[in-house]
Amino acid sequence: MTDIIKVPLMAIPQDLVCATDYARYAKKHLPTDVYEYVVGGGADEITLQRNRQKLDEILILPSVLQDCTQGGTQTTVLGQRFRHPLMLAPVAFQQLAHPQAELATAEAADVVETGMMVSTLATRSLEDIAAKTAQPKWFQLYFQQDKAFTLSLVRRAELAGYSALVVTVDAPLHGIRNRAQRAGFVLPDGVEAVNLKDRPPLPSKSFDPSQSIVFQGMMSEAPTWETFRWLKQQTDLPIVLKGILSPADALRAQDMGLAGVVVSNHGGRTLDCMPSSIEMLPLVREAVGPDFAVLYDGAIERGTDTFKALALGADLVCIGRPQFYALAVAGALGVAHLLRVMREELEVTMSLAGTPTINSITSDALRYSLV
Ligand SMILES: Cc1cc2nc3c(=O)[nH]c(=O)nc-3n(C[C@H](O)[C@H](O)[C@H](O)COP(=O)(O)O)c2cc1C
Repeated sequence: MTDIIKVPLMAIPQDLVCATDYARYAKKHLPTDVYEYVVGGGADEITLQRNRQKLDEILILPSVLQDCTQGGTQTTVLGQRFRHPLMLAPVAFQQLAHPQAELATAEAADVVETGMMVSTLATRSLEDIAAKTAQPKWFQLYFQQDKAFTLSLVRRAELAGYSALVVTVDAPLHGIRNRAQRAGFVLPDGVEAVNLKDRPPLPSKSFDPSQSIVFQGMMSEAPTWETFRWLKQQTDLPIVLKGILSPADALRAQDMGLAGVVVSNHGGRTLDCMPSSIEMLPLVREAVGPDFAVLYDGAIERGTDTFKALALGADLVCIGRPQFYALAVAGALGVAHLLRVMREELEVTMSLAGTPTINSITSDALRYSLV
C-alpha cells in the first residue's frame, strides 16, 4: 500500500502519525495536572477503560474484490451536509491546551471540512468561534439555573449561525473526578467560561442537617424531561440530547419530537461503572429505527473505531480527547492534521473492508472477538 497519509506541513514531527501519538506528545506538552484532568475519567475509570476495551473486542471482516472507485464519505444528518461522518465533540476550556483555544480548533474544522460542537464552557465567545468555520456547527448547551440566561445562550447561538443545539444531559453535576483531584487540578487564573460571564449570581442557599447538598442543592435546578418541552417551544433549532445510553431514553427523546441523540457516557467522566457507548449504540439504533439521528462518542482514536460505530448505527462519530491533545501539541495545525489522519484512516478502512460508501457499512462487516 502506498503511504497516502501525508503530513500537511513539515512542522509536525515525523513520528506523530495517529491520534494516540498526539496523546503521547500531549503528555509532554501539558502541565501534569491539566493532562490528568483531560485523560482521566470518573472514580475508578471502569467506564473509561470499557469504552476502549469493547471497541477493541469488535473485529472487522473484510469483503474483498469490491469496486471502490465510486466510494466516498459524504453524508447528510439533520438535513445538513457533512463531507465525512466525523465531528468534533464539545470539549471545554481549550485555552488550557493552547492560547488560541477554540478559535484554532474551529479553524482546523473549517480546513478539513469537519463539523464542530462548541461547548458552553468554551474559553472564547461562541460568536468568534462560529465566525472561524463555515462547516456545520452545533452549540452544546448546559442548562443554567437561570432560565432566562439559558435562553439568552440559545438566542446567541441562533444568531451566530449554529444549526443545532446539543444539550448535554449526563452531567447535571460533576462525576467523582479522583484523578484530577489527586493531581490538584484547578482552573488557572485567566481561563474561564467566557460565555457565562453575565450569568446572574446563584441565590445563596442554606441547608439544614436533614438536607443533602447534592439532592436539595446541586440537583434541585437540574433539567428534567419537562424542561425539554419548554426548550422545544423556545427555538426552531433541532435539539439533540448528548449523553444517552438507554434505548428507553432515546425513544422518549424521539417521542418528544427532539431531533436526535448522542450515544455517549461523557468519555467515562461522569458516572462510573456504566456500559461502554459502543455496547449501547446498536440497542439505541434498534429502538429508534433508521430515520432518527444517532451520533456516537467514546474512545474514537482510529479509522477502524469510526468504522465500527458507523456499522453499529451511528450517523456521525465524534472525537473528544484527541482534539485537545492535538491542539496542545500543534494548535490549529495539529487539529487539522489529526482530522485529516482520522478521515483518511476511515477511507482506508472502508476500502480494505470492501464497503466504499457510508450506507454500505453495516454490522455484516463486523465480528466479535472470542477472547
Ligand atoms: C477535557 C474534556 C472536556 C469536556 N467538556 C465537555 C463539555 O463541555 N460538554 C460536553 O457535553 N462534553 C464534554 N466532554 C465530553 C466529550 O464531549 C465527549 O463526550 C468525550 O470526550 C468522548 O470521549 P473520548 O474523549 O473518549 O473521545 C469533555 C471531555 C473532556 C475530555
